[in-house]
Amino acid sequence: MKEINLNSSKTELKNIIVRNDWMHEEDQIISIETPGAGNMNVVLRIISQKGSFILKQSRNYVNKYPQIPAPIDRIDIEAQFYKLIHTSSCSHYLPRLLGYDRTNKIIFLEDLGRSSDYQLLYQNNFNLSQKEYVATLSFLHQLHNTPFSESKSSQFPKNLALRQLNHEHLFVYPYSEKNNIDLNEIKPGLQRLAQKMRQDTLLKKAAIQLGKQYLSEGTSLLHGDYYPGSWLKTKSGFHVIDPEFCFFGPKEYDLGVLRAHLKMAEQPISYLNDFWKHYPASEVNFSLVDQFEGMELIRRIIGLAQLPLSLSLQKRETLLQEGKRLLMVS
Ligand SMILES: Nc1ncnc2c1ncn2[C@@H]1O[C@H](COP(=O)(O)OP(=O)(O)OP(=O)(O)O)[C@@H](O)[C@H]1O
Ligand SMILES: [Mg+2]
Repeated sequence: MKEINLNSSKTELKNIIVRNDWMHEEDQIISIETPGAGNMNVVLRIISQKGSFILKQSRNYVNKYPQIPAPIDRIDIEAQFYKLIHTSSCSHYLPRLLGYDRTNKIIFLEDLGRSSDYQLLYQNNFNLSQKEYVATLSFLHQLHNTPFSESKSSQFPKNLALRQLNHEHLFVYPYSEKNNIDLNEIKPGLQRLAQKMRQDTLLKKAAIQLGKQYLSEGTSLLHGDYYPGSWLKTKSGFHVIDPEFCFFGPKEYDLGVLRAHLKMAEQPISYLNDFWKHYPASEVNFSLVDQFEGMELIRRIIGLAQLPLSLSLQKRETLLQEGKRLLMVS
């Protein structure tokens, strides 16, 4: 595999692109840029005379933290997701998959244009518009309810290696006393709140039980990382990217995660109250949604994958208590 990055020469990149028939020999690359902040993979915007496109390459480590190993086949799974949902009604929310180079672990995506993700929602006074809010739920409903044949869903990769890595972040590190992140650097006083949570053996047990559900199989195709960092605010509206954590699993996972982020981003209360109006629920296990919501609140506040939250210590404490209450319902 040829590793590419922002410093790769245009000639080198062009060779890979032309060999994949994604660009003609006679076309020129005008410039290469980083389209946005990502941690896991290398993501580049290639601007040519004929337009622009996005390249995304996975490595057997986390691109931003090379000491952390990560399964390199995550890009193959992301490519398979795009191929599978190609005919689903939800596909218009996603960029089109234009090509896939299995050898070099690259996918080639439609460029949704220079845009920002929705992590600005965590800042004070930034809200999703009603239209954007409805879109977050419509996408999920359409994705979860796309009918797939038994053979397509059973042959779809389990994505277990990446899920196991994520499982540590979701169900283990936040509750571990050996966790060496200094939470007081994030918010003075947070370390003490985390210690209290970490002494709660019943909570730890509930987290371990829920972790089994995360690693289980299910009938819905999940996005798997459905939070504002996977949403793009573009000129043509709300879009969804980055399904590398996808798997056929319990839809309650995506739903709980989404609800937790609406809370952490302090979105209008009606967005939580009206949630099931825009995601007509059929066969949803509501207490499982609550548990995943609780899990996400806790792991984002005292775990390693921190968010640019602008919440006071007191609000974080309230959300941790709520997280605990939700995770422990069953
Ligand atoms: N199709 C696209 N069109 C426009 N911009 C894009 C596109 N795909 C990705 N980007 C930009 O590149 C950034 C990184 O992409 P992406 O989230 O897929 O990478 P990642 O390495 O998986 O990130 P993370 O570490 O957050 O999982 C996005 O936040 C977005 O700004
Ligand atoms: Mg990603």
